[in-house]
Amino acid sequence: MVVYHLSTECYPVAKVGGLADVVGALPKYQNKIKGVDARVVMPWYNKPFVYDHEFELVFDGFIHQGPNMLQVQVLKEKNDALGFGLYMVKIPGLLDRDNPYGYQDESFQFLAFQQGLLHWMCAMEIRPDILHCHDYHTGLVPFMIENCPEFISLKGVKTIGTIHNGEYQGMMSWDMANYMPSFDRYKWGLMDWNGLINPLASMIKCSHAFTTVSEGYLEELFISFRGLESLVRQEFGKAYGIINGIDTEVWNPETDPMLDFNFTSKNAVAQKKKNKEKLCKEYGLKPELPLFAFIGRFATEKGADLLPDVVWKSIKQSYGALNIMILGSGNTYIENKLKEYDYTYTNFALDLGYKEHLSHKIYASADFLLMPSRVEPCGLNQMYSMRYGTVPVVRYTGGLKDTVEDISTGGAGLNFTYPGVDDIVHAMNRALGVYNQKGMMENLIHANMNFDFAWEKSAEKYIALYNS
Ligand code: ADP
Ligand code: GLC
Repeated sequence: MVVYHLSTECYPVAKVGGLADVVGALPKYQNKIKGVDARVVMPWYNKPFVYDHEFELVFDGFIHQGPNMLQVQVLKEKNDALGFGLYMVKIPGLLDRDNPYGYQDESFQFLAFQQGLLHWMCAMEIRPDILHCHDYHTGLVPFMIENCPEFISLKGVKTIGTIHNGEYQGMMSWDMANYMPSFDRYKWGLMDWNGLINPLASMIKCSHAFTTVSEGYLEELFISFRGLESLVRQEFGKAYGIINGIDTEVWNPETDPMLDFNFTSKNAVAQKKKNKEKLCKEYGLKPELPLFAFIGRFATEKGADLLPDVVWKSIKQSYGALNIMILGSGNTYIENKLKEYDYTYTNFALDLGYKEHLSHKIYASADFLLMPSRVEPCGLNQMYSMRYGTVPVVRYTGGLKDTVEDISTGGAGLNFTYPGVDDIVHAMNRALGVYNQKGMMENLIHANMNFDFAWEKSAEKYIALYNS
């Protein structure tokens, strides 16, 4: 069975968030299953990976985007270094940039990516068994292969759409239809939602099945999905929630080269302490106090706007009996407010930016990981922290609900219900209680490290879905 995963991100080539982690791991684990050949197609970026690896040109052609003729090249990484075939679509001017997102013309970029990759497949007579589309960036593929005469040779190929984040739907005005490959005009309704082209809605309508990255999140979409609630209710018969796994080869505290002190569950307590001491020393924190950490994008869906108040309130209420460390970026107001507190409080440390190495060190050093997410389709941070013996303190939502059970019901994490400052600080107070109870932290470190979040089970579920 040949499966092509279509995505704008893939770790370690280009990562903005969890989408990259999933697309960099799932195909690798699927390839361990007999008879499966999973590959990844993504845009070309000017990232170190593309210069550190050898690529071969497997296709060179042209597409028309409205009045513009665009060159499309497909480059394949020669040695399958990631454990799967990696194909990168290069379109000079659109898909040869430094980063996946943040450009004014993203609708043109993603349309060209989808059209370019389908054009390559048709021209080279590639007919996969499954096209697996990830998020709205590739959400029009199921529509295009059925309704664009140009891609007739792909008609009937089975498509799966995975929703990693329903907050982003890629809406664009109908003017953009002029920049799409020509399609049967009377089928326009399959792309429309409320008078706009909505790629995510189209993916739900046109794919043979669609998935969310946890069951908890799928349930939530029925009542809160940025306007697509009725659509998901209507199409629920082909909806499946499949929880993400984590790449236990990359995220292995025993071998992780990014850690100062590696550990197994046997020596975790002592080694985590050493990691924590080193990190605290570097950031001027107090190693004898519990360390709470937050890692992530400063977005409202992550509850990042609550962080500044959480910092001062928790430090004040505990009379300075805890440390907090935050790694992230993405919102100037939040960044500035946190910078101010970084200056004010010796118990608080801030590192702005995207730092893969530091994130690993924090997962290994912290006692607690905070995730006050308003929306969390799956969440990988809590799973990484658990694998590194750090107790997750999470809002009870989406994938967090499915992966973190509260200590009060026999779990090894802490839940809170409302994404507000008081509830978060209350949960932190509960965590302090745990920290100060003799033997309890040790038990939780071991319990968390022993959870099984490996990809194998979920990879099998996707294959079963493909087969069905
Ligand atoms: P999302 O994809 O919504 O941002 P996830 O929990 O699925 O959330 O995945 C986030 C991923 O990005 C994790 O691998 C996390 O460690 C990483 N990450 C987020 N922010 C940063 C940062 N500032 N520096 C390093 N890694 C980060
Ligand atoms: C999205 C979601 C996150 C999820 C990730 C990978 O970025 O916000 O919750 O873990 O995709 O599926």
